[in-house]
Amino acid sequence: MDDRLMNRHLPDMLAMKDGRRVTANSWPERRREVAEILCNELNGILPDVPYALDWNVEKTEDHFFMGGKGCLRVIRLTVRTQHGEHTFRAYLCLPKAVNPAPVFVMASFGRMMPVDTIPVEEILDEGFGLCMYACPEVTSDDGDFSSGLAGLFYPDGERTEHDGGKIAIWAWAASRIADALLTMPDVDPGKLMVVGHSRLGKTALWAGAMDTRFQGVVSVQSGCAGASLARYSAGERVGNITGNFPFWFAKAYAQYTDRESAMPFDQHYLLALIAPRPLYVTSAAGDLWADPLGEYLGCLAVSEVYELLGKKGVRNEDSIADDCVLHDGDVGYSRRPGNHFFSRMDWQRICAFMREKL
Ligand code: GCU
Repeated sequence: MDDRLMNRHLPDMLAMKDGRRVTANSWPERRREVAEILCNELNGILPDVPYALDWNVEKTEDHFFMGGKGCLRVIRLTVRTQHGEHTFRAYLCLPKAVNPAPVFVMASFGRMMPVDTIPVEEILDEGFGLCMYACPEVTSDDGDFSSGLAGLFYPDGERTEHDGGKIAIWAWAASRIADALLTMPDVDPGKLMVVGHSRLGKTALWAGAMDTRFQGVVSVQSGCAGASLARYSAGERVGNITGNFPFWFAKAYAQYTDRESAMPFDQHYLLALIAPRPLYVTSAAGDLWADPLGEYLGCLAVSEVYELLGKKGVRNEDSIADDCVLHDGDVGYSRRPGNHFFSRMDWQRICAFMREKL
């Protein structure tokens, strides 16, 4: 094992709870154990509330969207449970030149379709579709568990220790969008992906971990509780994130404040739930809070699972330049100069990687 991983004293992902060594054949069993650990200790489990999903296309723009190169569909999704109903929208942008199209599902921060910060035209030109939804429309980004979809899971607004937090709810919404997209003949079901930046990168990883219909998963500067290893992190620590944003996670996660070494997992467990599907992690060199080295080492640590499953891990590099692209494995990694931001350079690299791997 690489010294940098040895020195972090990571828990062994390839040992079953009962000590047996994991093989390719027994990986599905180990995967269930890993998922259970992360459900209990990190993002939490959503209560099993029976629901019905209805969706319809509220608006279609077929002729003029992006100068006629694409089409836009505004989808209204309504979730109904015994506790009430909640509606949120998804904005599906599809390229006309590729049919069926590979599509990225992406949560965004704002309430509107963020065409001002997301290079939709370039993404369409690359031959990809993009389906955006606004996380505040799903449930607010705060401790209010009566807001939006959260209120359908927690009718009294209260959660217990291992109940799912906001990340689990945003990720659940991505899966409901997948339900709708997978009925559309112009969406390629073998090339549905999930992507997100920062807290929504953590969300994309969780969506991909929980829902294997996402064939490719992309984390952009997801950092702590995302792709970055928690043990010996040089950036944000468990105590910082659970102090500022306790509502993103299961309450249980906060018990690891200043006790990362006691965690029965590290973030490579989260990445392992995505194996053997293509996984892409990208960092910004100046985004020290997200710990770019920790993100790369997360990729290196998960590579043993990809290799066990007959895939290729990330390339092992002694040092990572500020501008660096490692696309040879099924775990891809890149780093670009600059700060915390979902830049068009990230998009170019993501599209190049997914085009090659899917
Ligand atoms: C904060 C938080 C990070 C998070 C980021 C974001 O900086 O500490 O963990 O990724 O917000 O979502 O922008």
